[in-house]
Amino acid sequence: MKSDLKTRIRLLESDFDSALAEASDLQALEQIRIRFLGRKGLLAGLFGILGSLEGDEKRASGHLLNTLKDKMNTVFSEKARSLDMQSHGESFFDHSLPGNIGYIGRLHPLTTLLREIKSCFQSMGFIVAQGPEIETEYYNFDALNIARGHPARDMQDTLFIDEEQEIVLRTHTSPVQVHVMENQPPPVRIIAPGRCYRRDTPDATHSPVFHQIEGLYVDEGVSFADLKGTILTFAQRLLGSDIKIRFRPSFFPFTEPSAEYDFSCLICRGRGCRVCKQSGWVEISGAGMVNPAVFDYVGYDPERYTGFAFGMGVERIAMLIYGIPDIRMFYENDVRLLKQF
Ligand code: PHE
Repeated sequence: MKSDLKTRIRLLESDFDSALAEASDLQALEQIRIRFLGRKGLLAGLFGILGSLEGDEKRASGHLLNTLKDKMNTVFSEKARSLDMQSHGESFFDHSLPGNIGYIGRLHPLTTLLREIKSCFQSMGFIVAQGPEIETEYYNFDALNIARGHPARDMQDTLFIDEEQEIVLRTHTSPVQVHVMENQPPPVRIIAPGRCYRRDTPDATHSPVFHQIEGLYVDEGVSFADLKGTILTFAQRLLGSDIKIRFRPSFFPFTEPSAEYDFSCLICRGRGCRVCKQSGWVEISGAGMVNPAVFDYVGYDPERYTGFAFGMGVERIAMLIYGIPDIRMFYENDVRLLKQF
């Protein structure tokens, strides 16, 4: 009896497997279910025999039968699933699969930073202005008091669109100063964010395309102290109240006096690190009091008005804030980098 039941269990298993293998549609499968797994089916019959056994024999065969039952149920559901899928063709939709959540894009770190910078200045009453990226030499140089043949013109390493027509890709956002002043009388209080271009070979700190933000404030009685106060307020709002700023004498043809300004290094908080080359300071850009010669070009009265202007290198600030060591990373659009923001 004992060996008999074991044999029948083995036979049932192989019969079931071959019957399943042959089933080619859901009706055939249902027949198999009734024959093998139904209430009066072959598996139930073997459980009936088990009822007449006793002791160790009953336990051993019971274990075998239960294992077979689980296996038959599993194999049966798999087959049912695959036949069901076939019968639905390609339009089959499996509700039990986890959802396919696509990668959701996000803002580029430069976009985020530009927005933050804009809102800092807007809260101080600055209005956002725009100017063209393709400029004439007049706006990019002449009206900014950068004379023909002046070394500053070489220094800029300009990309020309048409040399004869004197059309260039702007090398800085300062020409927007001229457009704005041509179009409105003082007072003027604007920032002008945008792309700039220079004939630079790309390396860790140079990119032929980069962003600047220009600032311009013209009114009666505007002083260098206002410039310093504006830059300091901006730096502390953007980067925290412990940020320090520093001005160093410099030269730009369109400002007089001129300065370059630095922020204390965010990474090491001024103690000295690789980013600030151990100096504790990171250079941001140039600034100064608008040169009266520029007022002459746009028809402002230099006896009555004074103003300050500043530039700002957006990538430089972004590298500082996000700890990005190479400017090229902003333009490679490697999702592994972008996903981190
Ligand atoms: N346009 C200058 C540059 O690109 C920066 C600057 C802006 C300097 C405004 C003074 C005033 O280097």
